[in-house]
Amino acid sequence: MKYSWHGHSVVQLETLSGHKIIIDPFITGNPNTTLKVEDINVDYIILTHGHNDHVGDTFDIASKCDATIIAMVELADFFENQGLKTHPMNLGGKVHFPFGSIKMVPALHSSTYYYQGETLPMGLASGVIIDDGVHKVYHAGDTALFSDMKLIGPVDLAFLPIGDNYTMGIDDALKAVELVACKWAVPVHYNTFPIIKQNPYDFVNRLDDGNGIVPDFDKQYNIN
Ligand code: NI
Ligand code: MN
Repeated sequence: MKYSWHGHSVVQLETLSGHKIIIDPFITGNPNTTLKVEDINVDYIILTHGHNDHVGDTFDIASKCDATIIAMVELADFFENQGLKTHPMNLGGKVHFPFGSIKMVPALHSSTYYYQGETLPMGLASGVIIDDGVHKVYHAGDTALFSDMKLIGPVDLAFLPIGDNYTMGIDDALKAVELVACKWAVPVHYNTFPIIKQNPYDFVNRLDDGNGIVPDFDKQYNIN
């Protein structure tokens, strides 16, 4: 699998089968990516929860690419009612897609979507495990540390929030790395806004050599 990180929680994956996936596509208002919504071309959009810094440009991307939105049932239904293609899931569910599988796992966080002046409840927040048959990638979404993370791994690569304030901070994310048993950990959800300012090397430097990765923004890497 290939991956790229675009600041905040925005991750793109390209599976062995060549399918393209974007997770939490917060592009407009994201200071750390040069991606343009109109240039994004994906087959699937995965949403971890309804917060606007995660749903982001989902509507425009899905409309343009005819991508399938994979999300918690309440959030998926919202987009289904807007005429978009969706696949609803809920915690514990695993679904096989042409590229492999997605499992929706718990996250300790809230989930609402602010839309046209209203704050809509969007069910539970989640994390996801994407498996293309060769690699397993865990995207934790927004979450606090919880001990059941030990049931999520082992995985090859984990995207873990370190920004603190709204999610776990660095100390808890380091514990999450152990619980999840990931070969590589990529810190996310920091430095987008002043309130989640962190130095990612304070995280990476406390991990074993090579265990933590701070990718360049918008650059594609191979997992191997
Ligand atoms: Ni959130
Ligand atoms: Mn967030």
